[in-house]
Amino acid sequence: MSVMDVITTRRSIKNFTDRVITKDEIEQMLGAVCQAPNHRLTEPWRFYVLGPESREGYGRALGMRKAKKVEDPEAAQAVIDKVGRSHRALPGMIIVAITQNENLEIREEDFAAAWMGIQNLSLAAHDMGLGTHLKTGAIMDDPNGRTAVGVAEGERIVAVIEVGEPESMPEGRARCASGDWTTWVP
Ligand SMILES: Cc1cc2nc3c(=O)[nH]c(=O)nc-3n(C[C@H](O)[C@H](O)[C@H](O)COP(=O)(O)O)c2cc1C
Repeated sequence: MSVMDVITTRRSIKNFTDRVITKDEIEQMLGAVCQAPNHRLTEPWRFYVLGPESREGYGRALGMRKAKKVEDPEAAQAVIDKVGRSHRALPGMIIVAITQNENLEIREEDFAAAWMGIQNLSLAAHDMGLGTHLKTGAIMDDPNGRTAVGVAEGERIVAVIEVGEPESMPEGRARCASGDWTTWVP
């Protein structure tokens, strides 16, 4: 596929097949992150590749947050168990974290660089016949979630990336043409 084809046909994948994702495939995707532009070559990214135990632990931490809205204790426990199980069942889960520079300007640049890397990863995965779904949210700061991941103290989790072979390719919603958002400044 051309780069433009990869960019325009990539979609967030919600359902994966059972196909196992190999260490080599994960390393190729992480290698794509490392090729991203990063100012001053700070290489801020840190990767956590989760196995079944830690995936379930992270899922249970997420489930606990969801369960807070459920009054019945049995139903709340069922939510925790279900989210834990669904995360264990994922073919792959990668956490991208970044180091937190003392300099706020560098910190912001590092956050931006991490997202450039994450897009590289998503595009590389798609080119390899795999799919990704990016997940973010307050869970990334939750002590239970962080413990499950084993993220180092002082690092910021930027994204949780579910990865696997797509069960099907979603159509994707139409995007506006760039012209709708463009001002050509003389
Ligand atoms: C910064 C960022 C955070 C995202 N967080 C979530 C998330 O927490 N949960 C989710 O289901 N999708 C999340 N997504 C995926 C978007 O919802 C998705 O990209 C969007 O719906 C467009 O669909 P597409 O990726 O198939 O083009 C996130 C995407 C980005 C760029």
